[in-house]
Amino acid sequence: MNKQIAESIAAIVNRQLSAQDVEQLLEKPKSLDVGDVAFPCFVLAKIWKKSPQQIAADMAGQLQNDIIHQVQSVGGYVNIFLDQAKVTQQVLSRIMLEQHNYGTNQTKMGTVVLDFSSPNIAKPFSMGHLRSTVIGNALANIAVKNGYQAIRINHLGDWGTQFGKLIVAYQYWGDKQAITASPIEELLKIYVKFHTEAEQDPALNEKARAAFKALEDGDSDALALWQWFRDVSLDEFQTIYQLLGINFDAFTGEAFYNDKMTQVVTELQNKGLLVESDGAYVVEMEEMPPCLITKTDGATLYATRDLAAAFYRQQHYQPNKIFYVVGNEQSLHFKQLFQVIEKMGHAWAEDLQHVPFGMMLKDGKKMSTRKGKVVLLADVLAEAIATAKRNIEDKNPHLQQKDRIAQQVGVGAVIFNDLKYHRLNDIEFSIEQMMNFEGETGPYVQYTYARICSILVKAEAPSQIVKFLSLGQQAWPIVLLLEQFPKVLATAFNQADPSLIAKYALQLARLFNKYYAQQKILADDANQASRLALCHCVALVLKESLALLGIESPENM
Ligand code: ARG
Repeated sequence: MNKQIAESIAAIVNRQLSAQDVEQLLEKPKSLDVGDVAFPCFVLAKIWKKSPQQIAADMAGQLQNDIIHQVQSVGGYVNIFLDQAKVTQQVLSRIMLEQHNYGTNQTKMGTVVLDFSSPNIAKPFSMGHLRSTVIGNALANIAVKNGYQAIRINHLGDWGTQFGKLIVAYQYWGDKQAITASPIEELLKIYVKFHTEAEQDPALNEKARAAFKALEDGDSDALALWQWFRDVSLDEFQTIYQLLGINFDAFTGEAFYNDKMTQVVTELQNKGLLVESDGAYVVEMEEMPPCLITKTDGATLYATRDLAAAFYRQQHYQPNKIFYVVGNEQSLHFKQLFQVIEKMGHAWAEDLQHVPFGMMLKDGKKMSTRKGKVVLLADVLAEAIATAKRNIEDKNPHLQQKDRIAQQVGVGAVIFNDLKYHRLNDIEFSIEQMMNFEGETGPYVQYTYARICSILVKAEAPSQIVKFLSLGQQAWPIVLLLEQFPKVLATAFNQADPSLIAKYALQLARLFNKYYAQQKILADDANQASRLALCHCVALVLKESLALLGIESPENM
């Protein structure tokens, strides 16, 4: 729509501005009372050395096309009122035709690798990992909608000196049965014990170093233990992923790169980038601390494994982009990583992007511990689901498939709460708030969707493209917003910002509910089919928006 208008304006100004430039300049007036689209004439005023008012007035006299109803010039702006019937016809028939492909980019754009979630073996799945999981998954969905193939990688923290400690801790205090019953809790317990004991008995640290060395050298006993820790931890993580409905293409964690690091380190050496510093090797950086590549004892580090991972992904997937969805606090690490690759002379360093996010807070404080105990994500999800279940029992006790729907709503609430603010914001975690059916929540959007479904059960929307009659002033903002969907999707990808879609869904739900309060959708008059078509389109776009965020849309709730 904006394209059509931009094209007409570009023609009037004799292509002094291209249609693309004009489209960039188009604005949405603060209120629909003054127009649906506005074009500011200030840029042209500079070029032509004429007053913007004069240009706007001239343009208002000339501008017309198929979808324009009326044009006014006000203070250097050209305010355009669209032909509501024609635009409604265009927008709704396009959605009816394309269905859930509305907004999908059909052009093959290439591949995006997304490194997200990536919890640490034998450690609890933290709130930070939840944020990474939810944001990363949404970005992967958004990438696919924008025409990319998305590769979802879980870069598990399954390697490093802490596994030497865990092996020693297990040898001293491990209880096989207890670990099998509750793996992460028990492994964490003995890991913590290791640290307290090591304060009294520093020899433990030596043993841990030796155990990790054995692991790195491929000692079969050490490897068997490590594999077991990894398997049982991953099983626990999988329960969470299943609940969240998230799948990965690869669980290639840090250990996967164990045999892929020498090559990178050798390349660093050959390119003269490796500098010795107290027996360790580093790469000097511009405007930040050096990046540590190998320790004094030759052991590799987190950064070394990330370096090897970047090369592996580049060769293996040949991606257009690699997103690292990891908290703010690792910004320096990624800056260093990217600069090392750049210094090695690889142009693809530009395709690597850290997608950082803020913290999850509870009552304004960091949420990693509660009464000294770690907040377990599984508990949080269970609480949200239980709350959803209670709501159903209260409001809709005869609902079928209560448990399934309670899960969709509870999980949806947690995910939506995470995605509705820009990711860099810290977010407050409050089950009551995120479950509020009237607030800016996932359940509110889900509820709006279910409400429309219940209308469409009573009277189906026409499957054929009908001639839409005017839907009236109240429906108009909805049509305009529906028209924006493809653009919002593109921006959400370009800015790696799923919150744009969450906000969009909230706005659409809000507008629809306002419309619904004022209109008898099922009234038996000539406009019924058009109103039903509008309902159908809104439901479709709400469902698609939620799906992109990783949230299901129950038809009843
Ligand atoms: N396991 C890490 C952590 O919990 C996150 C890994 C992020 N991805 C990466 N390629 N470094 O902090």
